[in-house]
Amino acid sequence: MNKINIAIDGPAGAGKSTVAKQVARDLDYTYIDTGAMYRALAWKALQSQADIQDGEALSALLESMDLTLSYTAEGNRIFVDNEEVTNMVRSNEVTASVSQVSLHAGVREQMVKKQQELAKAKGTVLDGRDIGTTVLPHAELKVFLTASVEERARRRHLENVENGRESNFETIKQDIQTRDEKDSSRLVSPLTKAADAVEMDTTELTAEQAAMRICSIAKERIKKL
Ligand code: DC
Repeated sequence: MNKINIAIDGPAGAGKSTVAKQVARDLDYTYIDTGAMYRALAWKALQSQADIQDGEALSALLESMDLTLSYTAEGNRIFVDNEEVTNMVRSNEVTASVSQVSLHAGVREQMVKKQQELAKAKGTVLDGRDIGTTVLPHAELKVFLTASVEERARRRHLENVENGRESNFETIKQDIQTRDEKDSSRLVSPLTKAADAVEMDTTELTAEQAAMRICSIAKERIKKL
């Protein structure tokens, strides 16, 4: 059976990673969490007290570190210099600094190359902000997931509570709005819907429903190959 690449983009908390993981499981594809890669760099920058405003320093840091993903049914495990940072990259400190880290052109250039390399063998589902526009502009299926800010904040809050992390709904909502602003207004690869992406509002959809819709569109596209 022919395989395709699926790009899932959208703002923070739109359900991308849950939906992308489900799609990858249903199609038996590899899920690649590109946000976790930016988070890993943000984690390393905080650890080494690098200046996150300094793009050159961050590019050099990224070049010097070994960043790897391993794939499991539950999602990606993230390793920096052989240390597992899967949970640490979700901390509030990392979340608060990652938009700044991902602004820099040199950082994005390296990340995009790594991601293109990972997606070389077809049969991948990548989620992020610039997959359909920059990383995989020729992906056979591009989806742009959205949801209301309230719903996105509610989901992040629930996720934090479930994982025993400190959480405040209003703070999260504000953080999401700030990140939307930053991610959408940055000069290099801003968060934008690719012209040929299918837009899906998940405010009223469960992750399973969204994943089912994406899988059925994917199967149609595969048939036409
Ligand atoms: O999806 P996430 O919350 O894990 O993403 C973390 C940050 O990384 C987010 O603020 C934007 C950035 N990001 C990006 O700029 N490009 C991507 N392809 C993925 C994430």
